[in-house]
Amino acid sequence: MNPQERIAELTDRLTLYNFQYYQNSISEVDDFTFDKLLEELSALEKQYPEFSRPDSPTHRVGGTVSKEFATVYHRFPMLSLGNTYSEAELTEFDTRVQKGLNGAAYDYICELKFDGVALSLAYENGILARGVTRGDGTRGDDITANVRTIRTLPLKVNASAVPPLFEVRGEGFLPLAEFERINREREDIGEPLLANPRNAASGTFKQQDSGAVAKRRLDCYVYSFLSEPEIFQTHEESLVAMKAWGFNVSPTWRKCGSIQEVMAFIDEWETKRYELPLATDGIVIKINRFDQQRELGFTAKSPRWAIAFKYKALAASTVLNSVSYQVGRTGAVTPVANLKPVLLAGTVVRRASLHNSNEIERLGVMLNDTVFVEKGGEIIPKITGVDLTKRSEASEPIVYPTECPACQTPLVRKEGEAHFYCPNEKGCPPQLQARFEHFIQRRAMNIESLGEGKIEMLIDRGLIRSPADLYELTFEKLLGLEKTFTDIETGKTRIVSLREKSVENILTALERSKMQPFESVLFAIGIRYVGNTTAEKLADYFGNIDALRTASHEALLGVPEVGDRIAQSVVAWFADADNQVFVERLRLAGLQMATDRVAVERKGETLVGKTFLYTGTFANFSREELENEIEAHGGRILGGVSKKLNYLIVGENPGPSKVEKATKMGVPMIGEDEFMAMLSS
Ligand code: IVH
Repeated sequence: MNPQERIAELTDRLTLYNFQYYQNSISEVDDFTFDKLLEELSALEKQYPEFSRPDSPTHRVGGTVSKEFATVYHRFPMLSLGNTYSEAELTEFDTRVQKGLNGAAYDYICELKFDGVALSLAYENGILARGVTRGDGTRGDDITANVRTIRTLPLKVNASAVPPLFEVRGEGFLPLAEFERINREREDIGEPLLANPRNAASGTFKQQDSGAVAKRRLDCYVYSFLSEPEIFQTHEESLVAMKAWGFNVSPTWRKCGSIQEVMAFIDEWETKRYELPLATDGIVIKINRFDQQRELGFTAKSPRWAIAFKYKALAASTVLNSVSYQVGRTGAVTPVANLKPVLLAGTVVRRASLHNSNEIERLGVMLNDTVFVEKGGEIIPKITGVDLTKRSEASEPIVYPTECPACQTPLVRKEGEAHFYCPNEKGCPPQLQARFEHFIQRRAMNIESLGEGKIEMLIDRGLIRSPADLYELTFEKLLGLEKTFTDIETGKTRIVSLREKSVENILTALERSKMQPFESVLFAIGIRYVGNTTAEKLADYFGNIDALRTASHEALLGVPEVGDRIAQSVVAWFADADNQVFVERLRLAGLQMATDRVAVERKGETLVGKTFLYTGTFANFSREELENEIEAHGGRILGGVSKKLNYLIVGENPGPSKVEKATKMGVPMIGEDEFMAMLSS
């Protein structure tokens, strides 16, 4: 099979697997096989870009970086919907519809109103040609590379079934589970959290690096089909057809024969919507028949044949008593509003997030102001505005602290960041406390029996200052310790006291933690930007702490998914004398400092940080042996000739296209002898 045929075959096969997986939840092949095929396709496409197809599943992983998005005009304007919050207004809408249709019978289609980003997706001859944001409704940003990363969006549909030009519209969103995963990861590496799924989705769609977009598993529900001429009689037919063509149509829609049925649908979903995998904020009600839609027409801004019923956000108003400032593990200072307790959706709210100093400025909020509090998609309630009619003489400006509220060290603000930081990493008590909490968590050293106030107590008693001190705790030191905690909010007290049984539990957990694998230790020690996944990658690549400790910036960049920021952070961390002592103490305590996964046995470090590709046959190595040698000496093998390639190893009967491309791109080519000299140099 020639490369063009193989590319076509792989493209079709992988597209089918994706379709089965995302639309029908069927795994036709295991992940490993899938990844291998995808890798093969990607390598072939790099080698023969002329045969790469626009619907190739390799686009799902991104890779293009655009400086600025091009502005494109919408073929059909993207209108918005009239909104209402009241059933009375909904009845008025229905009356207008009745009149507009001169008493003819009609049905509505009710859909959930998804809270994300409106997308226009244009297909040409069955191929996804363009993805555009709503923009101002007339023109938007061309974000094609980013929408291609949405795995449920077909890059190609059966061209014989669809018009040569059509457009679907839908809502791009970040699934709640994905939003939470990203925030957990951000918490791990000390990044400020994303406020809510909607903003996170909108921010992600506007990222310039589609590779970064691909890592956030965006999704999209489609809800409109547009073509000229129209090919459907009703909206219902279009939903059914789009589903059949492989689009992700939310199954939540329903046909309703009367406005009463619509109201029942609205009632039904008021609470049920929280079971959905994404944020929703209302119901969209559309006339089903397209001829009736045309008859009703549009106002300047929105259709007369549709309306959005929005659920009232759960909101209340109360007084802002004070602002406290919390210091996180990385020293980021977050302002928190202390409110006069108020009942909101069945729970008493006493605190709300204020995010950062910019947010305080944006809201223009002052102490003693009456503020509006809402519980939206986010878990922590937020302040959405100030009731200026209630502002009085008692209102005072909020003065942002210049010193750390916990240790009085002057705060610093890093360029381009919204947060202020306390730079006293090693002495600031809440930072210390958070470092311990990070260290003991399940995915790190898994010593959770030390939770719930015990760490605080041990810090207070001067028994621990560094996580390494934990391994010097003894039965005698722990037995009988006691501390009383008072909840600031409720005034209730709680006593933590260490009796024989809990001391035993702690010591056993500490002992057991020594078996936690190297990657967990690497995550636990808390290097900034080294989350779980990065820790695994570093552990796999370097194999042990000494190789990592002495790795250069350049060598670190050779690790998959490690960029400048992480590399810098790792080098700086190991350069710090206190951290070196910390690692030595953990090693002496018996923690795992090497991985027991045997990848390729390390023979040397001569190729660390270098990338290779080979072509042709060799006198001293089979292809597999050559690959093993490269990896055993710390080098990495790339899938194709690119700017990232350092050396092309050229053997007997080399492939002409690789050599040609390397020549064009100025990639150095070396022979087998030179490669062998490099191994032992
Ligand atoms: S239909 C003519 N259906 O709501 C307008 N929109 O205010 C056609 N939205 O920009 C829009 N879920 O981003 C439609 N099921 C749904 C929707 C939906 C969310 C968004 C969409 C649109 C905005 C309209």
